[in-house]
Amino acid sequence: MLIVFFYLNFLKVGEYMKLFGTMRTNDDGILEIGGMSALDIKKEFGTPLYIVDEKLLRDTCRLFVNNFKSDDLRTEVIYASKAFLNIGMAKLVNEENLSIDVVSGGELYTVLKANFPPEKIYMHGNNKTAEEIDMAIDNNIGTMVIDNKQEIAKVESALESKDKKMDVLLRVNPGIEAHTHEYIQTTNHDSKFGESIFSEDIYDISRILDKSDRLNFKGFHCHIGSQIFEEESFIQAALAMIDFAKDVKDKTGISIDSLNLGGGFGIYYTEEDRPMDLEKFLQRLCKEIRKKLDELELGDIKILIEPGRSIISNAGTTLYEIGGTKETYGGKDYIFIDGGMGDNPRPALYQAKYEGIIANKMNQNPSHKYTIAGKCCESGDIIIRDLELPEAEVGDLLAVSTTGAYNYSMASNYNRIPRPAVVFIKDGKGRIVVKRETYDDLIRNDVL
Ligand code: LLP
Repeated sequence: MLIVFFYLNFLKVGEYMKLFGTMRTNDDGILEIGGMSALDIKKEFGTPLYIVDEKLLRDTCRLFVNNFKSDDLRTEVIYASKAFLNIGMAKLVNEENLSIDVVSGGELYTVLKANFPPEKIYMHGNNKTAEEIDMAIDNNIGTMVIDNKQEIAKVESALESKDKKMDVLLRVNPGIEAHTHEYIQTTNHDSKFGESIFSEDIYDISRILDKSDRLNFKGFHCHIGSQIFEEESFIQAALAMIDFAKDVKDKTGISIDSLNLGGGFGIYYTEEDRPMDLEKFLQRLCKEIRKKLDELELGDIKILIEPGRSIISNAGTTLYEIGGTKETYGGKDYIFIDGGMGDNPRPALYQAKYEGIIANKMNQNPSHKYTIAGKCCESGDIIIRDLELPEAEVGDLLAVSTTGAYNYSMASNYNRIPRPAVVFIKDGKGRIVVKRETYDDLIRNDVL
């Protein structure tokens, strides 16, 4: 007990949650995001609330576009929309000149409703339905990423029946091991995604694609996993993909136009995470790729990347109201918030860790170790464990940082709790991008 007390007193104010982008503590000791204080945000939009720091989001988009480029390499940055998608986000991504990837009819529908230029849409999925394939073709999307051999025939016959052609990439699995959480590792030899570059079949599959009258075979796609911190994993995957392109060229005579290297760049959630310096890394990636393409005399292959989490994560904060506190018989200090696993399932699903702060007590020193619990009927509904905070009182506001990616997009209505609104805040003003769900929204599809 004494040790905890001394430890907490050594922590300086504000050190227990990293502040990103426009976040700062204002003169009244209140957290501010996008020039609005957490109290004003709460007053105008209510809680729980997904807040997006619009300036940071735009700056991050620009960081990718400006650094993943080089005079001697064709490049393209595609936002992986599964991380966070709604019409407002798709519009912003378009304004910032990124392309977008979708993995379902629902994601495709959303980006089309946002008037996203169809030629800049990439469609993924390991089991696209006939309806999804039709929808992609009817809306003239730019590129279909074919997952497997069987899918070639499906897409071809749909194109045939509509007398159309389409650019395609083939998703392959380069077998690069990336150090990440097991559940979100997509590249091992038994991954459900793509065709292995080690299978003998791969040359035949490439030939089939190349010979097709309906498919313009542009090249290969890979994605080695998510929340990866090792630069070398990405470099090795890029080099392996280029070696593979050379191998295919040597064995089949097919010269590809494009290589899509996927996303997965790791970001900061807590001080355990060591993200790369993205600017330097992206520039290095371009250089290493150019060198390798030159070595193998592969010429002008276009390189694409597909970041999701690293675009939106740090720009997102969830604001909750504290409804109560409880010290258990066993000595655990709980804070109860007005959201939880419904708006952020990642701690329960992946044991993901987050930082948090009492947004109206930024200048107070931490004095307690709290467990932040949501309001769902489930013991696993815990957002943060052992969070050092000043004494919490009913009505305080709890801000959890870095909730931009895979929170809103993975949210559920468990316990019939409506999903929070999404607000983009910039220059002291907030705009609602997604309205707060109502009870009527919850029963919308129930048959009376
Ligand atoms: N491209 C493909 C083909 C992908 O499968 C993914 C993510 C991405 C790009 C974007 O990866 P990112 O840059 O966001 O790491 N729900 C999990 C993450 C699943 C990622 C799935 N694929 C989570 O909450 O951590």
